[in-house]
Amino acid sequence: MDLRPAVLAIAMLCLALPRAALSQSQNAPPVADTPAPAPAPHHVNLTDLLSLAGPYGTFLGYLVRTDAIRTLQSQANATEGEGVTVFAPEDSAFAAVDGAALSNLTTDQLRALVLCHAAPRYLPLSSFAALAASGPVATFGGARCAVNVTYAAGRIRLAAGWTRAARLVSSVYSTPPVAVYALDRVLLPEQVFPTEPAVAPVPAPAPGPAAVAFLLATWPSLPSGF
Ligand SMILES: *[C@@H]1O[C@H](CO)[C@@H](O)[C@H](O)[C@H]1NC(C)=O
Ligand SMILES: *[C@@H]1O[C@H](CO)[C@@H](O)[C@H](O)[C@H]1NC(C)=O
Ligand SMILES: *[C@@H]1O[C@H](CO)[C@@H](O)[C@H](O)[C@H]1NC(C)=O
Ligand SMILES: *[C@@H]1O[C@H](CO)[C@@H](O)[C@H](O)[C@H]1NC(C)=O
Repeated sequence: MDLRPAVLAIAMLCLALPRAALSQSQNAPPVADTPAPAPAPHHVNLTDLLSLAGPYGTFLGYLVRTDAIRTLQSQANATEGEGVTVFAPEDSAFAAVDGAALSNLTTDQLRALVLCHAAPRYLPLSSFAALAASGPVATFGGARCAVNVTYAAGRIRLAAGWTRAARLVSSVYSTPPVAVYALDRVLLPEQVFPTEPAVAPVPAPAPGPAAVAFLLATWPSLPSGF
């Protein structure tokens, strides 16, 4: 049996202990051991995060245009607050929504739309199974834009308004107090769209080999506009 690692570990512990005991016993630790003055709280710039982290340019553009970015950023800044979770639809999700339906929106409607994509608290990925059971999640869009979470076979989907199943495709960032997740669809609140806007199908995510074969076999025969 090789005891060297254990001996080494004990030796290191002995070296470390007196030092730890010492610094605990002193009210004013020596200058060299003084930690830097309380570090500035970690600041996440949502604008930078969304522009650098991936294909969320359309969403970010709307956040900036409607000034909703300020609402989200101040929530991200508030270190004593509950944090913020942003559900960022990918550019392909916005591209799938009927262009006229989006371009017809007033700034206030657009703001209501993007605010449905953020919750005023930090929601780690590990909380979604419980959220699925606990009922709708409130968003900045108000009670009429609460988001239902479903969690099945490790897949997280959100439903709100006309959108039945927007899949949470990836975690872009998640460190309290800020979480940002990517969505493959836009959440389309009924207070913004009185009638259901046309949405092109989103390609099935990462299908297995059997599904790929099925898609390839059926693709040419899909009716146009499917
Ligand atoms: C975030 O970054 C953008 C672009 O780099 C900058 O214009 C903006 O002032 C920053 N906002 C905050 C809240 O730091
Ligand atoms: C968030 O904090 C940054 C850095 O302290 C600051 O520049 C920015 O103005 C703050 N933004 C909001 C909306 O509170
Ligand atoms: C957009 O607005 C135009 C003119 O007001 C209207 O004719 C059209 O039906 C609207 N389109 C949608 C998709 O709401
Ligand atoms: C969300 O769930 C509630 C019941 O908890 C239901 O009434 C509502 O229709 C659901 N909304 C969507 C968009 O699925």
